[in-house]
Amino acid sequence: MASITKTIPDDFILGAAASAWQTEGWQGKQPGQDSWMDAWYKRERHVWHNGYGPAVATNFYQRYKEDVALMKQAGLTHFRTSINWSRFFTDYRNAVVDEDYATYIDNVLDELIRAGIEPMICLEHYELPAELFDNDGGWASREVVELFVRYAGKVFERFHAKVRRWYTFNEPVVVQTRVYLDALRWPHEQNTGTWMQWNHHKNLATARAIQLFREKGYPGTIGCILNPEVTYPRSSAAHDQKAAQMYDLFYNRVFLDPMVHGCYPELLLDTLARHEVAWHYSENDLAVMRDNCVDELGINLYYPHRVQAPSHAWNPETPFHPACYYEPFTLPGRRMNTSRGWEIYPQIIYDMAMRLKTDYRNIPWFIAENGMGIENEGRFRNSDGVIEDDYRIEFYSEHLFQALRAREAGTNCLGYMVWAFTDNVSPMNAFKNRYGLVEIDLENNRDRRLKKSAYWFRQIRDSRVLALSVDDEWK
Ligand code: BG6
Repeated sequence: MASITKTIPDDFILGAAASAWQTEGWQGKQPGQDSWMDAWYKRERHVWHNGYGPAVATNFYQRYKEDVALMKQAGLTHFRTSINWSRFFTDYRNAVVDEDYATYIDNVLDELIRAGIEPMICLEHYELPAELFDNDGGWASREVVELFVRYAGKVFERFHAKVRRWYTFNEPVVVQTRVYLDALRWPHEQNTGTWMQWNHHKNLATARAIQLFREKGYPGTIGCILNPEVTYPRSSAAHDQKAAQMYDLFYNRVFLDPMVHGCYPELLLDTLARHEVAWHYSENDLAVMRDNCVDELGINLYYPHRVQAPSHAWNPETPFHPACYYEPFTLPGRRMNTSRGWEIYPQIIYDMAMRLKTDYRNIPWFIAENGMGIENEGRFRNSDGVIEDDYRIEFYSEHLFQALRAREAGTNCLGYMVWAFTDNVSPMNAFKNRYGLVEIDLENNRDRRLKKSAYWFRQIRDSRVLALSVDDEWK
């Protein structure tokens, strides 16, 4: 075992993330203010682990003061969450603000600022209003793009004095991939064309919100939180390389290229045309996207994605799916988080960083989410009642190490944020896999308790030194 230490630069963000729908709960929510997530939960509660979902969540809406005090105790420099679009208005089309909800957001921001924690705000973390989903088809509609830009305008106008870092979406590829491409989530409609239309409209909505933000001259930066899956081919053979290239094109470059370079990859446009799933867009859309790229990117990274060339011909009876170009590859001997079923490979952070440096004009970026969801954490509770999550400390240390290494290698890495601040509700898995630096005790009134990892976090924030042991011996 070797012991390594790394100095953490003073301006390096050390934070944690959450989202509105995964923490707030429905207290104070008015009829007609469901998000797509709420609507899905109401229709298919049976697929949510033990029936838990967004209804109570962690009740952050009522307990945010307690949580901000814990953030201070854990030493967070930054906290990222979202504003819940579905609750921000009582009338989406006429942009009538729900004053109670807006006051709550104001209070949360004030509480964070008083505690010396910088808020980072996302405009959408899957909280598309259900009404716009039901009546307009969600992001398939241009009208929804317009309504989002109006929403962004209202939010900027109201909170620009308190927030300096804005993000349009969290993981913009996710909802439509689960709903329209893989049809795993309500309303389970397989339609690849709709999937691509949502992708395009989210790119356009990002560019339009950026344009508005800059025209109004608001202070601070605006970007997006993406989840590029670092994709490794099984082998160096051309067919496996192509599989990785196509996976990357459809799930990563579809957002990275327009947001950082202002245009779609030619290969993507050609491939979509060939498969007759090209989306509708105008020349003006492309011009707006070209002129309004992001200032910075948040990058969510959890696990590597490994692919190989498909072993079977595509079934021509089924609609086009990018999976006709690849299939998953399982690396024998891989290290696993068996609770979540995700491979552990900290090198993804360094590899992604180097790609941002070389292929994406060394754009400023930070790890916006990285974390480890573990089942049954009660088994690690010590006699003082504290969950001793050494596995999480090890996971964070190894990933933070890669981020610091990437910064030393000249990438524009601004910081590292963990998912999540407290345990919270995951889509379907609900409270099954626990992610928090802080435990939410479901058996006892959702009481909060710092885990060992929260004390570790505080210590690295105070010392600005990361120390870790690396197993580098030939044994
Ligand atoms: C990210 C999302 O993809 O991963 C979060 O931004 C999510 O909303 C987190 O909770 C962890 O994934 P999961 O599926 O275990 O909740």
